Amino acid sequence: MPQKNVSHLLATDLDGTFVGEAEELRSLLDHFERLDETVTLVYVTGRHLESALELIEQENLPFPEVLITDVGAAIHDFSDPDVSLMWKNKLGDDWNPEDIRRAARNIKGLQEQELPVSCRVSYYAEGEAAVNELKQTLRSTGIPHHLIYSSGRDVDVLPLGAGKGNALSYLIEQKDWSDADILIAGDSGNDLDMLSLPYPAVIVGNCQDELKSVQGDLIYRAKRPCAGGILEGWKHYFSESLSPM
Ligand code: GLC
Ligand code: MG
Repeated sequence: MPQKNVSHLLATDLDGTFVGEAEELRSLLDHFERLDETVTLVYVTGRHLESALELIEQENLPFPEVLITDVGAAIHDFSDPDVSLMWKNKLGDDWNPEDIRRAARNIKGLQEQELPVSCRVSYYAEGEAAVNELKQTLRSTGIPHHLIYSSGRDVDVLPLGAGKGNALSYLIEQKDWSDADILIAGDSGNDLDMLSLPYPAVIVGNCQDELKSVQGDLIYRAKRPCAGGILEGWKHYFSESLSPM
C-alpha cells in the first residue's frame, strides 16, 4: 500500500506524558496547529486497545494515525491493517501466556492484572524482590519473553521482540518514515527502549524515578511536565526549521 507522506511525527506515550496536564496539552496542540506542516501522531501506550480508545475519547485527544498498545505487543494501524497483522506474525506463534502464568504462580507479591488481551501478561508487583524472582524463574524456564518493570509497580511480560522501541522502529521502517522529523516522548521505564532509538527524544519533567538519571545524545530532559515537556522538546529540536515561535 502506498504510504502517507509524513514530514513530522510525534510518537508519544499517553499517561503521564501526552495526558496529565490539560493546559499544557492545549498549548502543544495549539503550537502544532500554527505550524505550516502537519504533525502526524502515533500513540505508544501500555494500555490495551479498548482502554486506550476510552482515554482518547474521555480526554478528547486527536485521533492518532497509528496506535501502538500493550507496551508494543500490538500495533493498530487504522489505515493499513496489514502492518498490524505483520507485527503479530513477526512476534511469532511460540508465545503462550499460560507458560508465563505457570512460571509466576508461586511467586509472592505479584498480582496479575486483569486484561482482555492475550498478547502480554502483566502484574502489579509489591516490591522489587518479587520482580527479581519472576525474572529468574522465567530465565531458568527458557521461555522466550521480554520483561519490563516500570513505575515501581507494573511488570509487563511480553513476547520476545515486543516492547515500545521495537514496535515503533518496525512501524517507522514499514511506513518509510525514517526521513521525517521524529520526536519520541515518554515518562517511565516502559518508554526507555523507544526513547533510546536513534531519533530525537524527550523525557518529560514529571518522569518516574527510573528515568531520572537517563541520559543520551538524542535525549532532551525537559523541565516542564507532560505535554509541556513535549513542547519544550519539540522547540529544542525543531524550532529553527519550524517557525513560528
Ligand atoms: C499501563 C497499563 C498496564 C501496564 C502499564 C505499564 O498502566 O494499563 O497494564 O502494566 O501501563 O506498561
Ligand atoms: Mg507513561
